[in-house]
Amino acid sequence: MSGERWPVLVTRRLPRPAMDAIEARCDADVWEDEWAIPRDELLRRLAGKRGAVTLLTEKVDAEFLDAAPDLVIVANYAVGFDNIDVDECTRRGVMATNTPEVLTETTADTAWALLMAAARRVPEGDRFLRSGTTWIWAPEMMLGQDVHGRTLGIVGFGRIGQAVARRATGFGMRIAYYDLYRPPEQVERELGAQYLEFDRLLAEADLISIHVALTPETRHLFGADQFRAMKPTSVIVNTSRGPVIDEAALAAALHADEIFAAGLDVFEREPEVHPDLLTAPNAVVIPHLGSATVDTRNAMGMLAAENLIAALEGRRPPTLLNPQVWEERAGSSG
Ligand code: DGY
Repeated sequence: MSGERWPVLVTRRLPRPAMDAIEARCDADVWEDEWAIPRDELLRRLAGKRGAVTLLTEKVDAEFLDAAPDLVIVANYAVGFDNIDVDECTRRGVMATNTPEVLTETTADTAWALLMAAARRVPEGDRFLRSGTTWIWAPEMMLGQDVHGRTLGIVGFGRIGQAVARRATGFGMRIAYYDLYRPPEQVERELGAQYLEFDRLLAEADLISIHVALTPETRHLFGADQFRAMKPTSVIVNTSRGPVIDEAALAAALHADEIFAAGLDVFEREPEVHPDLLTAPNAVVIPHLGSATVDTRNAMGMLAAENLIAALEGRRPPTLLNPQVWEERAGSSG
């Protein structure tokens, strides 16, 4: 191990174990504010940096890369990387990494919590009691929708979608999924999951959980037509990226009782939440907490730190998004 220390930018303070790992090997310029680093400040601080640890609040594009001509790696502290122009990084020979796997189960737990909360009206009941309204048990008070035994439609059947399917097996659910990429048949068999075309899934699912990456194809995958195609008793949950849902259309569908409820962890214009969602009692909204547990955020931080340091030491980062850069570097040094 060389004693070299590298100048790096960390765009928000990460959990302690990750900061310790980074600071042990790097001279870290850390943006200490609780709000995202302003763009001009970000561009200014990138000068001369060899590495950058970014969050989903930082757009890594040509302008970002222009500001950091010495950059070797952008280590994103998130599994989603729609904030990174990976092709542009590749063109410039900059490695880009994300934090997959370590947050799969925690994010699936969050999706499940939202599913249960929205179907069984948990936050609504909590708000009701806190309001001090007089009440007595009643046969038809605050009736929700069953989860057990129903059909779960999973849209996006990668790691997190499959982890949600595993939870559904414990609830005796029929599991249907839609994805552009079909997993090996064995995965379908083990989870008892059935592939359905998107339109059929919309029509048959009682509960839908979204787990797709945000791409031009998935932007507004769910809009007014899709909500109309769903059952009026259905529940939709999104823990992926906000723009996958047309939020105004969802708010309208919830207010019109076209669908029963929604559970949302992510928003189209985050951190803004559409005002009509906030007035819909059947919308359960939480502030992007999908991976927010102590252990998982530590694990994400340690993986981001490991990616950063590996690249700076000349090792292949464990979760590299653009292996071409590594291969080219390896080729030119050998
Ligand atoms: C991710 O990792 O992509 C989440 O949205 C942030 O934890």
